[in-house]
Amino acid sequence: MTIDEIREKLKLALTEKRYNHSIGVMQTAVSLARQYGADVEKTAVAALLHDCAKNYSKSEMLELCEKYNVELDPISRESTGLIHGFLGAVIANEYYGADDPEIYDAIYFHTIGKPDMSLMTKIIYLADGIEPNRSYEGVERIRETAFEDIDRALILQIDSTIKSVIGKGGLIHTNTIDTRNFYLRKLR
Ligand SMILES: [Fe+2]
Ligand SMILES: [Fe+2]
Repeated sequence: MTIDEIREKLKLALTEKRYNHSIGVMQTAVSLARQYGADVEKTAVAALLHDCAKNYSKSEMLELCEKYNVELDPISRESTGLIHGFLGAVIANEYYGADDPEIYDAIYFHTIGKPDMSLMTKIIYLADGIEPNRSYEGVERIRETAFEDIDRALILQIDSTIKSVIGKGGLIHTNTIDTRNFYLRKLR
């Protein structure tokens, strides 16, 4: 599918707000891809599709995970907000023809992160949190840092995510902690 075809189909699968967020992530991700030398076309597809499974109900998500053999660890099974990443990686391939391991990886890990992630996965993770529609305390600093030092920006964003999850009393996925530790050590 071309980018335009993906956009058309995605528009029908998401709410207007989620669709606009996806376009925002694509714009930010493409800028970051240009800045850091990632594959712009692939990054655009991954960004556009990162939330393609976001609008399913919890029961639909669990059914689709079963259907496509998406394994869920105990934390993800309890935290519905995380499932759309793992499922989205499969849906991007099955429904939108995004048959590429790098795109799969970027979508799969966009909610929980992963230590030593590929440049593209890092860009999608970061762009998701700083696209123009996002507004929360500290976002400006992460936006500025993203174009200067991507790893430092990543840590800032993970910190912000962890604080927000704690604020809501939610479970923190161990991948997110491992990712934060990995990049903190890398910067030392
Ligand atoms: Fe997401
Ligand atoms: Fe998102």
